[in-house]
Amino acid sequence: MYPSIVALLAFMIPFSTGQQIHNVTVGEGGALTFAPNTVTALPGDTIQFVFVANNHTATQSSFEAPCTPIYGGVKSGFEFIGPGDAPKVYSLFIPDANPVWFYCGQTHPVSHCSKGMVFAINPPSTGNTFQKFQAAAMSSLPSNTTIPPPSPVTVTVTATASPSPPAANPPVIHDIIVGANNTLTFTPSNITAQPNDTVRFNFVAKNHTATQSTFSNPCVAGLAGGIPGFDSGFMPVAANTSGFPTFSITVNNTSPIWVYCKQRLPIGHCGQGMTFAINAVADGPNNYAAFQALAKSINGTTSSSLDFLLDW
Ligand SMILES: *[C@@H]1O[C@H](CO)[C@@H](O)[C@H](O)[C@H]1NC(C)=O
Ligand SMILES: *[C@@H]1O[C@H](CO)[C@@H](O)[C@H](O)[C@H]1NC(C)=O
Ligand SMILES: *[C@@H]1O[C@H](CO)[C@@H](O)[C@H](O)[C@H]1NC(C)=O
Ligand SMILES: *[C@@H]1O[C@H](CO)[C@@H](O)[C@H](O)[C@H]1NC(C)=O
Ligand SMILES: *[C@@H]1O[C@H](CO)[C@@H](O)[C@H](O)[C@H]1NC(C)=O
Ligand SMILES: *[C@@H]1O[C@H](CO)[C@@H](O)[C@H](O)[C@H]1NC(C)=O
Ligand SMILES: *[C@@H]1O[C@H](CO)[C@@H](O)[C@H](O)[C@H]1NC(C)=O
Ligand SMILES: *[C@@H]1O[C@H](CO)[C@@H](O)[C@H](O)[C@H]1NC(C)=O
Ligand SMILES: *[C@@H]1O[C@H](CO)[C@@H](O)[C@H](O)[C@H]1NC(C)=O
Ligand SMILES: *[C@@H]1O[C@H](CO)[C@@H](O)[C@H](O)[C@H]1NC(C)=O
Repeated sequence: MYPSIVALLAFMIPFSTGQQIHNVTVGEGGALTFAPNTVTALPGDTIQFVFVANNHTATQSSFEAPCTPIYGGVKSGFEFIGPGDAPKVYSLFIPDANPVWFYCGQTHPVSHCSKGMVFAINPPSTGNTFQKFQAAAMSSLPSNTTIPPPSPVTVTVTATASPSPPAANPPVIHDIIVGANNTLTFTPSNITAQPNDTVRFNFVAKNHTATQSTFSNPCVAGLAGGIPGFDSGFMPVAANTSGFPTFSITVNNTSPIWVYCKQRLPIGHCGQGMTFAINAVADGPNNYAAFQALAKSINGTTSSSLDFLLDW
């Protein structure tokens, strides 16, 4: 027997509470479908929408209004996949067991939602069922139906109609998994977010933090000039837990936001590259890769054998 190898394998066994990946294919064979159209997911699981053809979205709605986005909901945006293009994947972390409803927001040339292109995570088997949700979607007004104008009124010709300003994108929640698969990672490790978006850190293992730092001092809490930044504090996660703690921040502007895990036991996670960034400029010197490399060079250790000790 090789005890160290046994221990390593035991360490790699995923939680019984989730961390499974569910692929949902969007637009397979040109069809207006999510396949499968429902998924039963555990807290901690990930849904991967795999866009394979045409021009679809995965947009979060509600049971009550299947073809209407909910404010602040999940929204992939239009994913155009031309013939021969590689699929595009949009990942979604599932923090709890609540039902989540989706539709395809494409309305050209017809409303995909009204053709039944809807999807649900953990729909109830009675009451608000997926079948009712889809039926409601299909009875929604098809988008190319002209909505009848209101009853005739005296027509007033206005010389200049001021165009309504383009609708701002509603805020989005970006889910970040902290410690996926028991690794020292934020997943994804760098994102782009708009002002008013929420970034939600989902702590799924061990005992990590999401602590704001600066580009030049990646593993030191706080902003320049001693101004405190945000800090989730330690978020210990028991091995058998059924829910995961979260910590959310609001993005206020487009300036880069730098984040690390401040856990130092048994080794410093930041020096191992456990870093994260929002709105890092990818083609400038202060890009995410440079930030992570700086964290490793200032706080890293040279002994990779220490990886085996990571039972925190
Ligand atoms: C899920 O989709 C991704 C991207 O297409 C693919 O790499 C992966 O193998 C798929 N996984 C399963 C279990 O089908
Ligand atoms: C995808 O669909 C949207 C909405 O109909 C449209 O604005 C966009 O131009 C389409 N993208 C491509 C590449 O056709
Ligand atoms: C859209 O309009 C065309 C032409 O009027 C019609 O044939 C088609 O059925 C309409 N689509 C839907 C979804 O109602
Ligand atoms: C977690 O493990 C699964 C299965 O091995 C893998 O598909 C997935 O990419 C891993 N996720 C991360 C963030 O490492
Ligand atoms: C962000 O939200 C505030 C308060 O709701 C609003 O006044 C502001 O216009 C929003 N900013 C953007 C860029 O949407
Ligand atoms: C990283 O190294 C700096 C400089 O030695 C130190 O001030 C900081 O506390 C270290 N951070 C962590 C998380 O160990
Ligand atoms: C989490 O880590 C911190 C810092 O190392 C430690 O003080 C705390 O006791 C840990 N919590 C648990 C539940 O292990
Ligand atoms: C997880 O739960 C099982 C069943 O309740 C229990 O036997 C096991 O010891 C637990 N593991 C940990 C690490 O708490
Ligand atoms: C955004 O502004 C709010 C209110 O001033 C503040 O509490 C929050 O920390 C800011 N978010 C970030 C990421 O700095
Ligand atoms: C993440 O960082 C890498 C390396 O700096 C960069 O190539 C990539 O474009 C970044 N991604 C996002 C979404 O900013």
